Amino acid sequence: MDRKEFIKTCGYACLGATSIGILLQSCVSTKSIYASINGENLVVPKVDFQNKEDYIKYIIVRNDNLQFPIYLFRFSENDYTALYLRCTHQGYELNAYGEKLVCSAHGSEFNNKGIATNGPATEPLKSFPVHINNQNILISLKKV
Ligand code: FES
Repeated sequence: MDRKEFIKTCGYACLGATSIGILLQSCVSTKSIYASINGENLVVPKVDFQNKEDYIKYIIVRNDNLQFPIYLFRFSENDYTALYLRCTHQGYELNAYGEKLVCSAHGSEFNNKGIATNGPATEPLKSFPVHINNQNILISLKKV
C-alpha cells in the first residue's frame, strides 16, 4: 500500500467511526415526564427510572410552574443530580444527549454535573437539592 492509498484508507476509517458515534448518540431516547409538586418539592416516582431489568440514566422533568425543564440524572440508587436546563450564557434551553447537555444557540456544553465543558458559557448550571424516600425522588424547588 502506498502513502496516498494509506491516507485515503485512514480517512474513510475516521469518517466511518465518526458516523457511527453520531448514529449511536441519536439513538439514545430521552424520557420526559410531567411531575407534580408537593409542598416545595417536585415529586418523581423512582419507578420512572426503571426500564425492564435495568435503569435509565436520566429523565427530563417538566412542570407548568417551571420556565425550563429539569435534567434528573441517576448516578446510583441513592445518588441523583437535578440540573436546570437553562444555559448560563444567555438563557436558552439546553438539550440532553445522554450525559451531555448542549445549547443550540451558541454551542455551549455541560456535563451531567452541570459543569461547563465547552464555551461560551463558563458558569455551572443551577442545581437543586435532591432527597430520596422509599418511593420517590424529591427535587427541592425552595430557591427557584
Ligand atoms: S445561550 Fe447557550 S451558548 Fe449562548
